[in-house]
Amino acid sequence: MREMRVPESEILRQREYMRLVREMPDRPQSYHIVSMGCQMNERDSQTIAGMFEEMGMRREPVREEADLILYNTCCVRENAENKALGNVIWLKELKKARPELMICVGGCMPQEPGMAEAMRSRYPFIDLIYGTHNLYRLPENLCRALRERRPVVEVLDTEGEIVEGLPESRGGAHSAFVNIMYGCNNFCTYCIVPYVRGRERSRDPQDVIDECLRLRDAGVREITLLGQNVNSYRGGGAEFANLLRRLDRLGIERIRFMTSHPKDLSDELIAAYAELPHLMPHLHLPVQSGSDEVLRAMNRRYGRERYFDLVRCLRAARPDIGLTTDIIVGFPGETEAQFEETMALVDEVRFDSAYTFIFSPRKGTRAAQMPDATPAEVKSQRIQRLIARQNEITAQILRDQIGRRETVLVEGQSARDAGWIGGRTPRALMVNFPGDAGLVGRFVEVEITSAGRNTLRGRIVEEEK
Ligand code: SAH
Ligand code: SF4
Ligand code: F3S
Repeated sequence: MREMRVPESEILRQREYMRLVREMPDRPQSYHIVSMGCQMNERDSQTIAGMFEEMGMRREPVREEADLILYNTCCVRENAENKALGNVIWLKELKKARPELMICVGGCMPQEPGMAEAMRSRYPFIDLIYGTHNLYRLPENLCRALRERRPVVEVLDTEGEIVEGLPESRGGAHSAFVNIMYGCNNFCTYCIVPYVRGRERSRDPQDVIDECLRLRDAGVREITLLGQNVNSYRGGGAEFANLLRRLDRLGIERIRFMTSHPKDLSDELIAAYAELPHLMPHLHLPVQSGSDEVLRAMNRRYGRERYFDLVRCLRAARPDIGLTTDIIVGFPGETEAQFEETMALVDEVRFDSAYTFIFSPRKGTRAAQMPDATPAEVKSQRIQRLIARQNEITAQILRDQIGRRETVLVEGQSARDAGWIGGRTPRALMVNFPGDAGLVGRFVEVEITSAGRNTLRGRIVEEEK
């Protein structure tokens, strides 16, 4: 199937708008982007930054001082939405003091049905509201908002297209996100993502490879392939493991990806863990629940035994693999016994770490209609128990690392301890150690000397030549 692509002529038009904005005498001089939600949004924010820089704006690290503030929003759970709205309300005051301030709100939240209109009427001080499908039209829309000095609202209702050839600003990091597919077809009953991100579509493998080559030549040493469900990638008819094989040959030292759906975890992908030297031994594999009934009600299309099988096969292929997961507690109708099955699964699998969430009803999803009699306190006690259990497991796994030698890609300086730097092991465990900032972006051999609650400490035993 040929994927729908935004024509090159349209991208050239947008580049023309970027030039028009750059030449406006009273345009904003600086921008600040607040990126909420997942890595997909973070990657989008880099594209937005690239477009703003092409419009002549510079990045302003202090939000209050920027001439333009953009919120790239998330709506996956209610608290994500409340956080975005809380921020926006606060901006009203800032705008009173500085009327020329441009405020833009985009991403997943305005893409929810009816949300953009509600925002326009409730928050008339927002200058530009846009969704997920028209990110590439930001230059044109911003140009209009600047010229007309009145709010612009544009949310497109499409199945979703693929955009290539937009600028990007990645800030010179040694680790980079590369989107390989967009959207989601799974419709897990609790999840709003398929509604706000559209249908699954995969980038052409050559476009992905070209992007990775550019990154490699710019000094990037680790790439993380992104998609709501990366292992259902089907670019140019090729399956995900096939793309991984091609990327493994490019000379980029570390390859990671996220997020994977257990139902699409193929034998070929498991084999790739045994065979590809640059594929790092870490997999984020959201399980969501340990109960077959709950998994069925969630429309996850795998059961508890299938998940255990996958874990066994992965560990057989790559004994040092670290697994992480997402778990939802308090799905409508979840009983105490079903929750205990999740606790038992966590005990059996022994994840390196888990992101845990209390079910949050999202308008328009099937689960939001399901009767949900479990009191909030019960859900909250359940999640506390789960977190406590997972913390013990994480602490034990971290303690087991003491004495090992690991290769770490230095990511940056520690915010807390001067003279300390840190990075991740192949298994994606975070290690901090004394060292010079000049080592950022290099590989070092580290001996693990102690373990904290979520991170390791160590000392450098060898630096990259
Ligand atoms: N595409 C990814 C994850 C997307 S959202 C995947 O399928 O794994 C990230 C996580 O948020 C999900 O894994 C799920 O655990 C959680 N989540 C999504 N919708 C939620 C909701 N309505 N309430 C609580 N947690 C939710
Ligand atoms: Fe949401 Fe499920 Fe799609 Fe993940 S796979 S984005 S949880 S619908
Ligand atoms: Fe949130 Fe949108 Fe990502 S809803 S989790 S930012 S795809």
